[in-house]
Amino acid sequence: VTIDLTVEELELGGHAHFMHKEIHEQPESVERMLSGRLDDRFGTAKLDGLNLDPRELRRFSRVKILGCGSAYYVGQLGASMIEDLARVPADAEPASEFRYRNPIIEPSTLYVVVSQSGETADTLFAVREVQRKGGTVVGLVNAVGSSIAREVDGGIYLHAGPEVAVASTKALTHMSVGFALLALALGRVRDLSFADGKRIIAGLRAIPEQIAQVLAGEEDLASAAKELAEAPSLFFIGRVRGYPVAREGAQKFKEITYRHAEAYPTSELKHGPLALISPELPTVAIMPADDLLERNITAAQEIRARGGAVVAITHPGVELGDAATRRIEVPRNEVELDPILLTIPTQLLGYHAAVALGEDVDRPRNLAKSVTVE
Ligand code: AGP
Repeated sequence: VTIDLTVEELELGGHAHFMHKEIHEQPESVERMLSGRLDDRFGTAKLDGLNLDPRELRRFSRVKILGCGSAYYVGQLGASMIEDLARVPADAEPASEFRYRNPIIEPSTLYVVVSQSGETADTLFAVREVQRKGGTVVGLVNAVGSSIAREVDGGIYLHAGPEVAVASTKALTHMSVGFALLALALGRVRDLSFADGKRIIAGLRAIPEQIAQVLAGEEDLASAAKELAEAPSLFFIGRVRGYPVAREGAQKFKEITYRHAEAYPTSELKHGPLALISPELPTVAIMPADDLLERNITAAQEIRARGGAVVAITHPGVELGDAATRRIEVPRNEVELDPILLTIPTQLLGYHAAVALGEDVDRPRNLAKSVTVE
């Protein structure tokens, strides 16, 4: 028997698109990324590549995260992990803005750049700006030996493997896991207890299998995506840790479906966007079982009362009643790590909506995989 396969078909390994393949690679690739990096003896993360010993790690009183596009959204997630676990003030900013505003560089701030390609011009220039002014900058980078990886003072390689689809999925998941490792290391040289360190380690170990559980619900996600694809415009909403998840969900959706998708903090709805809610504008709501759940349910009910459909991404056992028209469940992890898993369904929503619309999923118009120009 002879089978004729093109190189691309061979690389796709039976998947219809690289994006689909990369989404499905995540359980295995995250497992690989974690291997050798979890230190059970001290309840911390082993990050030798940072080139910072515990005394140096303690020296920083602030963390500033810089990245572009989706990497910036994951940076927002990373900032909340760092504040939660290490109690160090942290924030994220688009590297593309940072480099143009004559930023104040403080020696007591740890600058963290995040990039899949390691070649994004805006992020690379941000590295140079920090270094020119005497700051310390480390990188969370996927592409080994890339320009950013070479120029930073240290870092964490993401080990996601090659990513071909322009719309990033697995590299972003690896970034958020990378931030969890960094937050754990920063926390354990401060006030994060050994028990909490072990709790986070156990949570990280559960992630690969839990991603696989989310991916097993693909059929349901594909049917939700088909419905969403019919709307000319949609909202993604989430609160606090859920807000960067919503931003990334909207980004993925618009990149490959060309539909208008906008993210809002759920708390901001009543300050303006609620005016747009109608049966024609569905909402994807990030509604984990956390201390904000009741408030999230009230906001979803307000959307429902105005005829808007709500696709809730939530945890098992959460009672949503009539606040959601559809529910998508992800397994629970530790509250600090939940956003990593809450993001996975949004990848498949974007993917299947684009497939339903017949778009070129892997090569969306007007976009490049790595933006090496200004
Ligand atoms: C992600 O889906 C996008 N294509 C885009 O926002 C990307 O994350 C951004 O351009 C940053 O790229 P980098 O991670 O290679 O630096």
